[in-house]
Amino acid sequence: MIEPLRNWADRYRSRGKYTPVGVAFHWIMAAMIITQLLSGWYMQRLTVGADKLSAYAFHSQLGLAVLLLGGGRLVWRLMVPGPINDADAPGAASTIAHMIHAVFYALFVVLPLSGWALWSAVQPSQQLYLLGFIPIPNMPFQDFSPEMAEWAMGIAMNIHVACVVVMTLLVPAHALAAIKHHFWDRDDVLEGMLPEVPDTHSHPGGPRYSPPAPAIPRPPKAG
Ligand code: HEM
Ligand code: HEM
Repeated sequence: MIEPLRNWADRYRSRGKYTPVGVAFHWIMAAMIITQLLSGWYMQRLTVGADKLSAYAFHSQLGLAVLLLGGGRLVWRLMVPGPINDADAPGAASTIAHMIHAVFYALFVVLPLSGWALWSAVQPSQQLYLLGFIPIPNMPFQDFSPEMAEWAMGIAMNIHVACVVVMTLLVPAHALAAIKHHFWDRDDVLEGMLPEVPDTHSHPGGPRYSPPAPAIPRPPKAG
């Protein structure tokens, strides 16, 4: 099962590109993470009421979807490595970039898990849903004692906020590095993570477009 998958992936990797699956994971999750950072910040600023409750519901549901997708992406990445490209040139920059990628993968799991723990410790407890309709049980802190719930809430909050801070710092650093590769170094790193647009002009049997028509000689203008 893994062998045919790797062979398929090699068609992209050998050209310095991530597979369409890797590209889809990257951009869908990037959009989700940025939405989560904004919604987490926004929901806290709302006054107590229906809007705040629905903002919390949205934040928790999208966050659990990040956990689901992040887990799937991690499994995918372990089976199908990314391409070797100019970002892998030996040196400190490449080591830092790989470390940032590893931290991202860890955050895809720890951020939603700490959010889930935080949600589960807050009183009164609220039902959690994945994708809006799959009920997810709360973690059982409130079954023990109010002190236990209080303690769990403090720890989960600290972890969640610390992860938010790390993510908020690393995302712009990572994006700026990608932009630098593209516009400054002018290498293939950003292109490797962009979706491929089919080239309608190249065709195995030769060019599909008709050659330009020969110029028709015009009679000289009278007068
Ligand atoms: C990738 C996933 C997630 C990201 C990026 C994220 C981001 C954030 C941010 C930016 C805040 C505001 C922190 C602050 O300014 O102090 C926050 C708070 C919070 N998040 Fe998340 N979150 C994620 C997942 C989750 C999940 C899955 C849940 C629940 C199941 C959750 C529940 C909460 C709760 C309860 C708060 C505290 C709000 C408050 O103190 O009023 N988060 N999150
Ligand atoms: C929340 C936002 C983002 C997150 C969480 C994120 C996360 C990641 C991760 C985990 C990887 C490693 C992929 C792997 O090897 O499996 C990666 C690679 C990459 N990302 Fe992002 N990314 C984000 C936003 C962006 C943006 C805005 C850009 C472009 C401006 C970008 C450009 C790239 C590029 C070019 C690579 C490939 C690097 C290489 O080949 O070594 N990312 N990203």
